[in-house]
Amino acid sequence: MANIYVTRKIPEAGISLLKEAGHDVDISDKDGVLTKEELIKALKEKEYDAVLCLLTDKIDTEIYEAAGNAKIFANYAVGYGNLDMDEAKKRGITVTNTPGVLTDTVSEYAMALILAVVKRIPEGDKFTKELRYDGWAPELLLGSDLKGKTLGVLGAGRIGSSVAIRAKRGFEMNIVYYDIKPNKILEGEIEAEYKDSVDEVLKIADVVTIHVPLLDSTRHLINKERLAMMKPTAYLINTSRGPVVDEKALVEALNNGIIHGAGLDVFEDEPNLAHGLPELTNAVITPHIASATRETRGKMSEIAATNIIDFLDGKEPPNKV
Ligand code: DGY
Repeated sequence: MANIYVTRKIPEAGISLLKEAGHDVDISDKDGVLTKEELIKALKEKEYDAVLCLLTDKIDTEIYEAAGNAKIFANYAVGYGNLDMDEAKKRGITVTNTPGVLTDTVSEYAMALILAVVKRIPEGDKFTKELRYDGWAPELLLGSDLKGKTLGVLGAGRIGSSVAIRAKRGFEMNIVYYDIKPNKILEGEIEAEYKDSVDEVLKIADVVTIHVPLLDSTRHLINKERLAMMKPTAYLINTSRGPVVDEKALVEALNNGIIHGAGLDVFEDEPNLAHGLPELTNAVITPHIASATRETRGKMSEIAATNIIDFLDGKEPPNKV
């Protein structure tokens, strides 16, 4: 039997798996994210063998230190930019994530954000609910078509590829993409066209969708200069990690007509928003819910638990990063 600490309430499926495997599970009872001090205090209360943490927990040296015995941190997310990976490596700590299971969910959501901003759905909803609709009009809330337009995908891994396939097969868009290496399967399946650089994609895409992990090399990948390369009619969609986009520069670009619109599910300094962002009618913004379906959040909980159970059984956890 091992002691496991879970930093916030998550769907029960994974907790049941941990308990069925005979482990003792303590779950933070705070209705929200633990502060660093609270997390350190909680981790020092027992000798924990494993920690199940969330993308909202910043896991650094002091946290690893406080959880001295824990040799696995299982992140309840596919992204793991919240953990200091160099420090984990130095300490021989295994980090796991929850890939695969949220690919369809997040790519459906990316398509939903594209449609929401391009077809101006939140604006139409607000307008109608404010009882301002006084009859059909030829130029009321004009949006754009997707058919025949170019989708630029930055990062053609699981999620990026899945969005590309949906956009091609469901909406007859042309796909161009950039990744550090070409994705031949994607090219074969949907004739996606590889571009040599991010800039090449930005210059020709009508909609740009971001699916890169947050790394030192991708922080502010989209900055003022790169926004200026986009078409003034283009839209930017981000369901990856907020700091990949310079949010202040994006607000300026949206205000000044440098690009036409944006759909964002992630922000640079969550839960805070850049000054001016909430007021923009040409930005659709949602609270990091791209993976938030009952099905997927339940499966993420099971996967995080399985990673811990396998590790504690002396096996290689399925999703070691
Ligand atoms: C992830 O898993 O990284 C997602 O951002 C969570 O929604």
